[in-house]
Amino acid sequence: MRTRRFGRVGFQVSELALGTWGLSGDAYGPAYEDDVGRIVELGVELGITLFDTADVYGDGAMERLLGEKLDAKTTQVVTKLGTLRDESPPAKRFDAETIRVRLEASRERLRREIIDVVLLHCPTAAALRASDGVDFLREEAKSGRIGAWGVSCGTSEVVHAALDRSADVVMIAYNVFHAGDLHRLTDRLASTDTAVLARSVLSHGLLAGHWGPNKQFIEGDQRMGRWTAEGLRYRVAQLQAVRRLVAGEVITLRAAALRFVLSNNLVTSAVLGVRSTTQLRQLVREAGEGPEYFDEETLLRLPEVLANAEIEL
Ligand SMILES: NC(=O)c1ccc[n+]([C@@H]2O[C@H](COP(=O)([O-])OP(=O)(O)OC[C@H]3O[C@@H](n4cnc5c(N)ncnc54)[C@H](OP(=O)(O)O)[C@@H]3O)[C@@H](O)[C@H]2O)c1
Repeated sequence: MRTRRFGRVGFQVSELALGTWGLSGDAYGPAYEDDVGRIVELGVELGITLFDTADVYGDGAMERLLGEKLDAKTTQVVTKLGTLRDESPPAKRFDAETIRVRLEASRERLRREIIDVVLLHCPTAAALRASDGVDFLREEAKSGRIGAWGVSCGTSEVVHAALDRSADVVMIAYNVFHAGDLHRLTDRLASTDTAVLARSVLSHGLLAGHWGPNKQFIEGDQRMGRWTAEGLRYRVAQLQAVRRLVAGEVITLRAAALRFVLSNNLVTSAVLGVRSTTQLRQLVREAGEGPEYFDEETLLRLPEVLANAEIEL
C-alpha cells in the first residue's frame, strides 16, 4: 500500500482509505456481509491505515466498530460531526458547544484520546463562515487533542469557505463524472498544501460499470433518488466511452475510475465505499502497485476519451 503525506499537517496515510457509510446500512441498504468488522480487519491486513466515519453513521455504531477493531498507534481515523439525527428533522449544528460535546462522545466510542482528523459534516458556506465550532476545533488541533481539522464539503463554494478558515483538510466528491470542482480548486489547494480526501470515487457504484440502463434500487438505498431514470440511462451510456481507459494493467472499469482519482497528486487519499470483503480486495488489488496509474499511451488518450463521453473536466 502506497502512502501519501497528509498535506501540511505532514503525517503519512495510506492512499486508499476505508469508508464506513456503506457498512452502516444507512447508505445503500445492509452490507453484503453480516460481519462488517471483518471488512475493517481486512482493510488493516491489506495495509489501509486511514478509516473514514461520522458520529451519525449507524447512530455511532461505525465509530464503535472502529474503536474495537483498530490500533490507535498504527491507524488514523477521520470522523465527522455536526449532523444531529436525534432531532427530527435532522439538524445541522456547528457551534462550539455542540461540537465539543459530540467530540467527547466520539473519543469514547473510537477509544482514542487523540482523534486524528475531525471534519464538520457538510455545512453550508454560510454556516461554516459563522461557525465558532471552527475556532474550537482549531484550538483542539493546536493543543494536540486532535491531529487535524477540516470540512466535508458538498460544493466548491464550501471548499472556498473552508480554505478561508484555514482548514487542514477538505473532503470532496471526486470521480470521472464529477471532476471539475476539484480541478478548478487545484491552485488554491496546492498553494495552501491542504489535504484532500476524495470520496465517491465510483460515483456511488455507477463507475463500476455493472448496471444496466434501467437499474432499480431497493427501498432504503439513497441512490433511489440520486438520478432520474433518464439521467441514469445517459450516465450508463457514457460509460461506453470511459471503457477505453481499460487497457494493459487496468483490467476493469472500476480500476480505471479509481486510478483516475489516484493519478491526481492533489488527492491525499481515495476513500473507498465497499460493502464486502470481495469488493475491498478487488479495489486494493486493482489500484495496482504503481507508481504509474495509467501507462503513457492511456494517459495521453485520457482527455480525448473523456471529451468523447462529454465529460467535463
Ligand atoms: N458527506 C460526506 O461526508 C460523505 C458522503 C459520501 C461518502 N462519504 C464517505 O466516503 C465513503 C465512500 O463513499 P461512497 O459510498 O459514495 O463511495 P463509492 O465508492 O462511490 O460508492 C460505493 C458503492 O460502490 C460500489 N462498489 C464498491 N466497491 C466495488 C467493487 N469492488 N466492485 C463493484 N462495485 C463496487 C458499491 O455498490 P453496490 O452497493 O451497488 O454494490 C458501493 O455501494 C463513504 O463510506 C463515507 O465514508 C462521505
